[in-house]
Amino acid sequence: MDHKAFKDKIADFLLENQPEDIKAFMNEMQTLMSYYKCAMHEIEAKFKVLNEQFSLQHERNPIESIKTRLKSFESIKEKLERKGLPLTTDAIWNSLNDVAGVRVVCSFIDDIHMLAYCLISQDDVKLIEIKDYIKHPKPNGYRSLHLIVEVPIFLCDDKRLVRAEVQLRTINMNSWAKLEHRMRYKKHLSDEILAKTHDELLECAEISNQLDLKMQAIRNIIEK
Ligand code: GTP
Ligand code: MG
Repeated sequence: MDHKAFKDKIADFLLENQPEDIKAFMNEMQTLMSYYKCAMHEIEAKFKVLNEQFSLQHERNPIESIKTRLKSFESIKEKLERKGLPLTTDAIWNSLNDVAGVRVVCSFIDDIHMLAYCLISQDDVKLIEIKDYIKHPKPNGYRSLHLIVEVPIFLCDDKRLVRAEVQLRTINMNSWAKLEHRMRYKKHLSDEILAKTHDELLECAEISNQLDLKMQAIRNIIEK
């Protein structure tokens, strides 16, 4: 969504809710979203540098693709409601860690850990939280490494520390997650359908993991 569409959505929402100061909130929101956008760019640049350096040393790219996304206004609103928090810029800034999101799709499982380590070792990156859904997959089979990090963004006369969610996955983990997401994540499906598809999706995740492990083993042989 571009800035104008985003602004329009906020305006619609605020008109419905009759807030005290619509204009001030909109301006604060725009500033906040621009900070998150800058943080995403900073993190994306860091991964691009790591990819470049690694490809010079090892003649291959550990990163297949990098995607950035800003959480939509609807999702921000929904998450704040779910947490019982008010829709204010303070609540967003203090309580939401995933307004800025960076997804890094890697070639091999080992690349995920190598890249995560390289990122969090940088002295301007602070690790806030780590969720290792590779070591401990979700019950549905979801795998990825999630990091919540804080990075500085430098403004003309100031510096802000901004939080972002980084998801690192292999190509296979990404394919599974994208399809599963499209089919059922956060969709309100009936218990019957959920039960019917749960085992099948879990099996797909296991097969996909087997593929990742085999590919990693082949690469280890080649690089020995
Ligand atoms: P959210 O409220 O969804 O942000 O969950 P959370 O704060 O507990 O964070 P968590 O780290 O578990 O998941 C955050 C993000 O990971 C989601 O927004 C998805 O992008 C992804 N994710 C987590 N679980 C699943 C899953 O079961 N399937 C898929 N496809 N994606 C998932
Ligand atoms: Mg999230």
